[in-house]
Amino acid sequence: MQEQTRILHSIPVDPLTGSISTPIYQTSTFVQEAPGVHKGFDYARSNNPTRKVLEDLIAVLEAGKNGFAFASGLAAIDAIIKLLDAGDEIVAVDDIYGGSFRLFTHIYQKLGISLRYVDTSDVHNVAEAITPKTKLIWLESPTNPTLKISDIEAIAAIAKAHQILLCVDNTFASPAAQKPIKLGADIVIHSATKYLAGHSDLIAGLVVTNSQSLGEKIKFIQNASGAILSPFDSWLVIRGIETLTLRVKQHSENAQKVAAFLQTQDIIKTVYYPGLPTHKNHDIAVKQSKWFGGVISFDLVVDDKELAVQLVSSTKYFKLAESLGGVKSLICLPCEMTHKSVPEEKRYASGVNNSLIRLSVGIEDADDLIEDLRQAIALVNRQILLSTVKTPAHVL
Ligand SMILES: Cc1ncc(COP(=O)(O)O)c(C=O)c1O
Repeated sequence: MQEQTRILHSIPVDPLTGSISTPIYQTSTFVQEAPGVHKGFDYARSNNPTRKVLEDLIAVLEAGKNGFAFASGLAAIDAIIKLLDAGDEIVAVDDIYGGSFRLFTHIYQKLGISLRYVDTSDVHNVAEAITPKTKLIWLESPTNPTLKISDIEAIAAIAKAHQILLCVDNTFASPAAQKPIKLGADIVIHSATKYLAGHSDLIAGLVVTNSQSLGEKIKFIQNASGAILSPFDSWLVIRGIETLTLRVKQHSENAQKVAAFLQTQDIIKTVYYPGLPTHKNHDIAVKQSKWFGGVISFDLVVDDKELAVQLVSSTKYFKLAESLGGVKSLICLPCEMTHKSVPEEKRYASGVNNSLIRLSVGIEDADDLIEDLRQAIALVNRQILLSTVKTPAHVL
């Protein structure tokens, strides 16, 4: 069975009414026939029929055992870190999403969990960073925002050899393009806010585990900590997933064209997109993912924040906003927006410089998107010619 058929037919018809759309069970509790005798649902933090459909669906999509839906991507990440104990260590990708960095550093480090950030796009760095205290390897592939690609299968082999859990934040690829559990990961998490929901209309997180025992631990944490997804938002994510493969294909095809256009522009220094043969780990991306997604980053030859601000403020179809993965295109300046919480030194070390711009390429017509960028780049070019912009010493 092909993926799109599997998705649509993994969403059950409502057994009570025959409703083809999953009913929204907007309830806090469930009437019991006798104490402890019920239909599998007792209290809606512990379980909810609408949420359960989503949880079962994401488990199927990610080729895992159990799925869990959380109130946000960060709540999903938080649940994973709660598997650890004080004294444990995480080896994490250096170019990590700013919110994950903030959670790890400012919440969990002070509770005794230490972090080692390494460039996981080189497998050797991961092997070298592991110590007897390492209990979790944390990957994003592609990363947010410089689209680094890590070899999930090779890193999973290292994790297994050391009996360390491997968790992959699969937000950027989505299960339509990449299935980390099939490549050996133990846990997959998503900001379902992005491609899974797909319409920039909610905040949600998902976790998928590869084993029943890990699933039971996450279930306990989900219920004990309580950051569950509401029935309505669960329904919206289910509806988004129904068109996931169609959208991701279109996002990816558009992004490939936009990335090729950006590469022809003189003011642009580097275009980061895994679908480009010039990408450092393009061959690994080809090996482990079906499509390359809709996110592209690029920086300017002149690493000047003001110029970058002008560019991101001059597009018409690319709306200036945080987030990604929705049908409408977005543009953002990570150093001032998504990655503001990452210290400048660390930002630069992982390639997030002041002129790095991130695009979330939507499903509009690719030619319109390219024209939009062309006119914004022309405005910045004019500004460079007219002004006396000084190139910061560190980019010379
Ligand atoms: C890669 C990645 N992981 C996790 C998150 C956090 O998700 P949420 O905003 O749904 O909490 C984000 C948000 O941008 C993200 O980009």
